[in-house]
Amino acid sequence: MILAIESSCDDSSIAVLNSSNFALEFYEKISQELEHSKYGGVVPELAARLHTEALPRILERAKPFFGSLKAVAVTHAPGLSVSLIGGVNMAKTLSLALNLPLIGVNHLIGHIYSLFLDKEAEFPLGVLLVSGGHTMILDIDARGAISVLASTSDDSFGETFDKCAKMLGLGYPGGAIIENLAKNGTPKFSFPVPLKGDKRLQYSFSGLKNAVRVQIEKLSQNGELTGQDKCDIAYAFQKSACEHITDKLSRVFNERKFRRFGVVGGASANTHLRQNLANLCDAHECELLFAPLKFCSDNAAMIARAGLEKYRKQNFIAPQNLQIIPSLNLNSAFE
Ligand code: KG4
Ligand code: ZN
Repeated sequence: MILAIESSCDDSSIAVLNSSNFALEFYEKISQELEHSKYGGVVPELAARLHTEALPRILERAKPFFGSLKAVAVTHAPGLSVSLIGGVNMAKTLSLALNLPLIGVNHLIGHIYSLFLDKEAEFPLGVLLVSGGHTMILDIDARGAISVLASTSDDSFGETFDKCAKMLGLGYPGGAIIENLAKNGTPKFSFPVPLKGDKRLQYSFSGLKNAVRVQIEKLSQNGELTGQDKCDIAYAFQKSACEHITDKLSRVFNERKFRRFGVVGGASANTHLRQNLANLCDAHECELLFAPLKFCSDNAAMIARAGLEKYRKQNFIAPQNLQIIPSLNLNSAFE
C-alpha cells in the first residue's frame, strides 16, 4: 500500500492506495473552503495553520494501515509554499520513522492520474487541465511523455470564477457559485471571448475579468445589483470563459487527431464546460474522459495513484533531498 498526502492549497487530504488492485483502502479530505470564504480567496497563512491541525487528525485515522505501507508519496510541487511544507514535512517524518521510501509527486501529474484512479493509465492522450492554479492543454505521447501545447498568460480558468464571485460579493470558491447563478441567468449581457481570432495557442482571462468588473461598476451606479443582475453576469461570464477554452481547443483538434481526450482539475466539474467539450469531441470523433466528480478537485487519491507510477520505477528520493517547488517552469513542469 502507498500512503499519499496532499496539501498544496486549501485541502488537507490523505489516501492509502492498494498497489496491487488500485483499491482505495483509506481516503479523507478536510477542505478549508469555509474558512477562506469570507476573504474571497485562499489566505496562505491561514491555510498553513489549518493544514497543521487537519493533517495529523486524518493521519491518526490512517494509522491501522501503517503496518502494510510500502512507500509514502507527497505533493511537493507546485502550490502554495506554506501549504506544501505541511504535507512534505509530515511525509518526510513518516518516511524516516517507518523506514519507508519517499516519493515526491507533481500535483499536475496527480490531476492527470485522477482519470485512472482504479485502472492502468492509457496513453496517448490529450488533456485539458483546468484548476484554480492552472489552465493547460497537454499532449501525452504513447510513452507517457507530456508536452504543454497551451497555457494561460495571466489568471487561470478557475481563478477567474473565484475573482468574479468575489467582485459580485459572493463566497469562495467561486466556481460552483457562479455556475449555479448562471442557471438562472438570461443573455442580457455579453462579454467578449478572449483572444478570439488570435492564432496564438494561448489562454488569457484577465481581459474578461476586467469586462465583468466594468459591467458591475456600471450597474452599481444605479444602486446595489439585483439577484437577477448577478445571475445574468454569471451567465455571460461563464459562456465567454467556456467558449475561450473550446475556441483554442478546437484549433488544437483541427491540427492533431486525439482518439482520447481527458479533462481534469477542480474546474472540470463545470457542466457548461463539459457540454461544450462533449460537442467538440463528438465533432472530432474523440472519446472524452472525466475523473469521478469527487476526485476532480484536489485530493490525495490522485497523488497516491501518480505516486504508484513512481513506485513501480523505484523512483524514490531521500527525505533530506525532497524540496518543495511552489511554481514550476512551464518548459520543465513535467520532467
Ligand atoms: O483543482 P482544484 O481543486 O485546485 C487547484 O489545484 O487549483 O481547483 C479549484 C478551482 C477553484 O478555482 C474553483 O473555483 C474551480 O476549481 N471550480 C470550478 C467549479 N468547481 C470548482 N470552476 C468552474 N465551475 C465549477 N463548477
Ligand atoms: Zn489542483
